[in-house]
Amino acid sequence: MNLPVVSVILLVVSTVHAFQYTELAQYIDSHQEEYVEALRDWVAIESDSSNVQKRPELHRMMEMTAQKLRLMGGTVELVDIGEQELPDGQTVTLPKVVTAQFGNDPSKVTVCVYGHVDVQPAKLEDGWATEPYNLTDINGNLYGRGASDNKAPVLAWIHAVGAYQALNMELPVNVKYVIEGMEETGSNGLDAMILAQRDTFFSDVDYIIISDCSWLSRRPALTYGTRGNCYFFAEVEGPKQDLHSGVYGGTVIEPMTDLIGILDTMINPSGKILIPGIREAVAPLSDEEWKMYQDIEFDVENYKSKIGVSHLMYTNKVDLLAHLWRYPTVTIHGIEGAFSDRGTKTVIPLRLSLIYHVIFLYPVVVMLQVTDYLHSVFAKRKSPNKLKVTMVIGAKPWLADPQQALYEAGKAAVRRVFDMEPDLIREGGTIPIAKTFQDVTGKSIIMMPIGGFDDGLHSQNEKMSRYNYIEGTKLFIAYLNEVSKIQKTSV
Ligand SMILES: *[C@@H]1O[C@H](CO)[C@@H](O)[C@H](O)[C@H]1NC(C)=O
Ligand SMILES: [Zn+2]
Repeated sequence: MNLPVVSVILLVVSTVHAFQYTELAQYIDSHQEEYVEALRDWVAIESDSSNVQKRPELHRMMEMTAQKLRLMGGTVELVDIGEQELPDGQTVTLPKVVTAQFGNDPSKVTVCVYGHVDVQPAKLEDGWATEPYNLTDINGNLYGRGASDNKAPVLAWIHAVGAYQALNMELPVNVKYVIEGMEETGSNGLDAMILAQRDTFFSDVDYIIISDCSWLSRRPALTYGTRGNCYFFAEVEGPKQDLHSGVYGGTVIEPMTDLIGILDTMINPSGKILIPGIREAVAPLSDEEWKMYQDIEFDVENYKSKIGVSHLMYTNKVDLLAHLWRYPTVTIHGIEGAFSDRGTKTVIPLRLSLIYHVIFLYPVVVMLQVTDYLHSVFAKRKSPNKLKVTMVIGAKPWLADPQQALYEAGKAAVRRVFDMEPDLIREGGTIPIAKTFQDVTGKSIIMMPIGGFDDGLHSQNEKMSRYNYIEGTKLFIAYLNEVSKIQKTSV
């Protein structure tokens, strides 16, 4: 009997197969400050993709992201996705897309993590309690623009791989990253890039993981659907210049009156969409869905107090969630060209743009329905003014099957880290690229958020809690292990 040899073999086997979660989790805990500093460095960059003036910052952000991945030994590329045409006809360079790869063992599952490092605009004057680009820790909450959407989740994914490397543990799967800088303005240029790399970078990818959303409560969640988003401008143009309302009022058919008139025909006070075909295109809630929604942790009173309202459009949880996640709605965002300063300017503005969007359906269909409808309503007014309707963003909805193996792996990872079952939720917002990934690559997608329900995405005082950031990093570590157990043949 040759005991020493046997024990050596066992040792080798155990380093390959045993998942040393405790060691990895301890590593994450003991490097917490380093991770917070990394987030501070990223938040300090004003990578606002909506503001062309900030484009150099955005380029710097992409370069920093690439550099971080290069330093970890990844195969990194900054992919040129061309130029963006501005409304005035000028062009500006789009931020490059960062792709990276760690490991290329064909016997392993390959996951591709998608994230973005651009942010929504933010100014202290908007009502922030702290400087939006100076990460500030208050009672364990890290306040800063982009902290939760989506810089901390992207960093958490990078740190998850970094922890395996630091502990000399083999990655259980091959990990790829696609990180873009135009998400907040519609992922300009990314669709074409995914299509162009479908048979190269994406060819060996088994699953796509997106962590660009939030939990619904304090309970961790997995997200299996997002709504679409169609963003429109409607412009009413009247007299050739602004007019004194005392001198001309009463004789002129005013653009503002026309605009408000058509605006009030889109949705009624009880939330019913009046544009024909929009609501009807969404299937009614099934009994099964009703039961799923009923089981979700969602405190209506808490939700109301968080947003500071006494009444919502619906009173019960299931109706609220259904209208938040799966039914279309209309939101009116603003009126450009209207007088909005303090005081009493007596003017009839010559041209007004209504900025609004219709959520959910397939953009091409919505574009026609909305445009036709507004023109027909406008025609009934018999106004001499001119109406122009344009759709500037058309992002498709996305839906996955939460029973598939990819989601079972997610549930197992949540159990490992949080010792509870995740909520299975949908997201009212849009992650435009999800549908493209699904259609172009044919791969399954899982959305695994780590952001808190009260993170204030796109709003003042956006934050990421240390708890979510750090435990979320552990969740990703655990997930890489769980997803490696899915048989490649079952893809
Ligand atoms: C960020 O805020 C801290 C605390 O208020 C302050 O000490 C620091 O100087 C600020 N940093 C920058 C870059 O503004
Ligand atoms: Zn985001």
